[in-house]
Amino acid sequence: MAANPQRDFPEAYELCKKFDISDANMEEIVQRLTKEIKMGLAKDTHPRAVVKCFITYVQDLPTGKERGKYLALDLGGTNFRVLLVTLRSETEIDIESKSYVISHTLMEGPGKNLFDFIAECLSSFCKDYHIEKENLPLGFTFSFPLKQVGINKGIMITWTKGFKCDGVVGKNVVELLQDAINRRGDLKVRIVAILNDTTGTLMSCAFGNRNCRIGLIVGTGSNACYVEKTSNTEMLEGYQTSNKPNMIVNCELGAFGDNGVLDFIRTPYDNAVDKQSINPKRQTLEKCISGMYLGELVRHVVVELMGKGLLFKGLDSQAIHEKWRFQTSYISDIESDPEGSYRQAAMIMDQMGIRTHVEKDLACLRYICQTVSTRSAKLTSCVLACLIQKMNTKDCSVGIDGGVYRYHPHYHNLLVENMNKLLKGSAKFELIVSEDGSGRGAALIAAVSV
Ligand code: GLC
Repeated sequence: MAANPQRDFPEAYELCKKFDISDANMEEIVQRLTKEIKMGLAKDTHPRAVVKCFITYVQDLPTGKERGKYLALDLGGTNFRVLLVTLRSETEIDIESKSYVISHTLMEGPGKNLFDFIAECLSSFCKDYHIEKENLPLGFTFSFPLKQVGINKGIMITWTKGFKCDGVVGKNVVELLQDAINRRGDLKVRIVAILNDTTGTLMSCAFGNRNCRIGLIVGTGSNACYVEKTSNTEMLEGYQTSNKPNMIVNCELGAFGDNGVLDFIRTPYDNAVDKQSINPKRQTLEKCISGMYLGELVRHVVVELMGKGLLFKGLDSQAIHEKWRFQTSYISDIESDPEGSYRQAAMIMDQMGIRTHVEKDLACLRYICQTVSTRSAKLTSCVLACLIQKMNTKDCSVGIDGGVYRYHPHYHNLLVENMNKLLKGSAKFELIVSEDGSGRGAALIAAVSV
């Protein structure tokens, strides 16, 4: 029989209420975000804005006619990837790619080591495909806050998502990579563009869907970009006289709330996760939404209930007390069990050293997961509704990528449901999984920039 949280585990039910966001609060969030975005766009408020809304210098969406062979690098998700993308026709795109693991030592070590490693992977990839002398154009998907000053020049603002390498903040990342490539001397490539993963996702989706106006990532991190009128992008030199009507803006939405405007929906668990993170008081929204943090939020709630003797009574393990040990993918697995079955939940707790088949406990665990993922989806819905309203569009598609969106069984439906609530029929929208934005998108931007 399906669990009834209020009756079956009332204390956990009460605790989970702290994560609930009412309809009125969702609307309030949309309004607050709209204000922050306007601050990021405007020249006089940009320096103190927390949602930076960086201009990307990508002003043309793909036409579908782009062709050619491009290299792409993708840094900023779970793995680092090198890709060779061949655009043959609108429907025929070949992608060869290789993933490399970035070790913790590299993530928190000197930037020079990181860029040398990237150049080394690129070199070995190119040698495998015998293209090291071809001087191919390269698009660099660098998914961190970057103040772009041109299509192939960007100054690193701050690290996010567990990275913290010395000697990169304040520098032009394209130059750091080009220097690392040149130091090797065994490779000829031209870095023609640097982009954010959200921009890649938007471009990749727009290649086959001309109505795509937003790129969204709900993965390790969370962020969105959208198509803004150039006349609103005051940070662009000569924005009033630009002959291109549009500009993709990378909002860097993860930082929304860093000035306290989201405190009214944050919980003690958010505070705990924030404190133990590598970047406390930074990326407030991202810490409520993205894959790097959702599992950890669930773990904190579970541990508190266990401590009070309200969950997994008489059982304990070292693993459940280990920070970051409860992965966000577990949430998707646990919520994928059909109604009334707790097979994956039991297996996951088993892996966490807690052997139980007590249904009520496993139902409670699932409820906690649902609570945390639903809040994430509600916040993401606020973001999307805000951007759709900001563009004043009546009909738009959203290209989406990232593990949370892809693998969570109900995330898509939760987005649709909550966006409908917020938009109240004022605009039509379509949510589309964007295939390989960081690779395909990088190639498309390289194609429109050479
Ligand atoms: C983080 C980065 C941002 C990126 C997002 C998704 O928020 O700062 O640039 O787009 O993660 O990967």
